[in-house]
Order: sequence, then structure tokens, then C-alpha cells
Amino acid sequence: MQTIEFTVNRRRVSGACADRTHLGDYLRDTHRLTGTHLGCEHGVCGACTVLVDGKPVRSCITFAAACQGADIVTVEGYEDDAVMADLRVAFNRHHALQCGYCTPGMLATARDIVLRLPDADEATIRHELSGNLCRCTGYMGIVAAIRSVLDARRAAAGVIARHAGAAAAPLPFAGFTVADEALGTQPHLAAAGSAEPERSADRKGWSRIEGGFTVPYALDEVWAFMADLPAVAGCLPGAVLTDVAGEKVKGHIAIKFGPMSARFDGAARLQRDDASKRGVLKGAGQDSLSNSKAAGDIAYQLRALSAGATEVAVDLQYSLQGPLAQFSRSGLVRDFVRRMIADFGKSVSRRMDPTLSEAERNQVARLNPVAMFLGVLWERVRRLFGAR
Ligand code: FES
Ligand code: FES
Repeated sequence: MQTIEFTVNRRRVSGACADRTHLGDYLRDTHRLTGTHLGCEHGVCGACTVLVDGKPVRSCITFAAACQGADIVTVEGYEDDAVMADLRVAFNRHHALQCGYCTPGMLATARDIVLRLPDADEATIRHELSGNLCRCTGYMGIVAAIRSVLDARRAAAGVIARHAGAAAAPLPFAGFTVADEALGTQPHLAAAGSAEPERSADRKGWSRIEGGFTVPYALDEVWAFMADLPAVAGCLPGAVLTDVAGEKVKGHIAIKFGPMSARFDGAARLQRDDASKRGVLKGAGQDSLSNSKAAGDIAYQLRALSAGATEVAVDLQYSLQGPLAQFSRSGLVRDFVRRMIADFGKSVSRRMDPTLSEAERNQVARLNPVAMFLGVLWERVRRLFGAR
């Protein structure tokens, strides 16, 4: 147990909290804020979404203890919020709810869209909403409600700009930059995520994760190895190539992250620039189980550290659509992917090691997804509480 203190709906609260209690349970059980609904409790449905320091966060996969000093707003705390007032009216008018179970989370996400993406069109709204599930409405009313609020705000911005004699400009919005790293960018939680600020992705709506590794071989050797797509795939646990035709490949990759399992089937194409020692693997795939779609570019840049050591910087930019989309925003996923990149580097080193037998070289670092997930989780908690 520990004592936590934070602000919820502008009220300072403090009290004892078990380390493992998630924020959703803590808000509901300790503060009777039962408007925060719990559906899947796996971070999938979005019903439990609340604002933590102004950003939508899934309270079911956020430790209450991780919110020390944070400013939390639940659906009960929006009475003075102008955007939420507009959204409430619009949800009513467009019949954007039936049973209402998803609605607190939908409203939190909708508010984020309105503030962060003032120019969002219907496709963008649907993409951004893809992490919030509704079993009743079919989403038409929800999308229409958000569109109507955006349209009204754009019209109002145009009127204000014309009165000021200036070109129409979007309404100022409240400091949302990228839709991801909801926890990692908060000062009190930054220690639990990457120490470096995240760069936003080059494409709108995409996420970006950067990582890298060093291998004890010369630049040209590593460059040649990275052109061998079956060998590279052999370093990635869960990846299977079913068809290789020059720079094009087809195959699948199995992923397990906590409660989430997926198998993406797809195709990719590798483009390489010999002069700059830079390669980009562009691919897309679909998980038939969840019907989620993924598209991504994995860019790698080689740099010689010495005659016998090469650094490989990896820049992963991707987009996830469908039920798995909410995972693209999780700081845990970022840590998990960085771990995978580091493990991939170890497998590359082993594959290239001439002192090992063929069988030893082909032995991919066996990934235990459960152990890796727990390891990443533990590392975050450890950093959060200042352990070294
Ligand atoms: S209850 Fe948190 S995402 Fe479903
Ligand atoms: S209104 Fe019932 S789940 Fe969305």
C-alpha cells in the first residue's frame, strides 16, 4: 500500500492505495465516480477512458499509484467544459448513444479529437475513434455528432477571423501534440517511459517508435546481411516468410502483448540506398481474428562505429486500424517494441557470428511474450518508483 494524492474533477484527494489497483477501480470504488465504466479491463474497449493531465488515458491499464500528482477528469467533471457541453448536445441530437455504456469513454475521446484535430474529416474521426468500441449504435450517430461540433467550431472560427480582417484560422486548441504517449509525456510519469522526447510520425494519424542496436561487425558486412530478407526475418521471433521475390516478400508475423494476440498476414517491399546505407521496408497486413489492419514503414540507417562495429538505428512508423488500434498509443507498447528491436539486434549478431555452427546461428532468441510483457511492465514500475 502507499499514499497517493492527485486532483480529480478539480478536487484534491489523497488516500491509501494498493500498488496494483488500477485507476478505474480506484476512481469507482474509492471515490464513487462510477461514470467511469469498465468493459474489457484489458485496454481494448475504451469505455474506461478518462483524462489524465489533459490526455485521454485508459484507466483500466493505468495504475492509480502512477498518477501521483496528476490532474484527472472523469465524465462527472466536465460541467464547465465548453467542448463537452457542445458534444453533449450533439450526442443527444444525433442519437449517438443507446445503452450509454461506451459513452463516457466516447466523450473523452471525442473531446480530444475536437481539440487536437480541428480540421478532422470523417475518415480521420473514424480512425481516431477506432479504439473506442460501441456495441449499440453502429457509430453513425457518434461520428455525425463529432462532425457537427467540428463544423460549428470551424464556422465560428471563420466568423471570428473575418471580423478580425484575417484569413480563417482554426480555433486555438489546448496543447495536444501527438495522440500517443499519454503517460510518457507527463512530468510525473516521464521516468516510466523513454527519456527522450518522441518525434511525431511523418504521416498524419501514424505512430512512431525509434530504437536501435549495435552489432560487432563491419558496416559492409551488416549492410549485405540486411539485404537477405529470409535471414533478417529469421531474426524476428514470430515472423514467417511464405513468398520471396527479390525485394518483395509475403508472410505473417505473430504478436502477443499481454492480453492481446494477433497474427498479421501481409506483404512488404524493401528499398535500399547503397550510398547512404539506408533501407526502408514498407508493408501492410491484416489480423483476420480482430479484423485490425496495419501499415508500416521500418527504416534502418547503418553507421560505422569502428572498423568492426556498426550501429543500426531503426525508425518504425505505423498505423493500426480496428480493435487493436488503441495499442498504438500505449507507452508500454513502445517499451515492448524497443525491447523487440534490441532482441532482434542480438539475433542479427548471432546469425552473423562465423564461430557458431549453422544450427546455433539459426537459433533465434526465443521470445517468451509473457515474460517480455511482464519484464517491460516491471521495468516501468521500477523506474516509476525511482529504483535503480
Ligand atoms: S475497460 Fe478499459 S479499455 Fe475496456
Ligand atoms: S451506446 Fe451502448 S455500447 Fe455504445
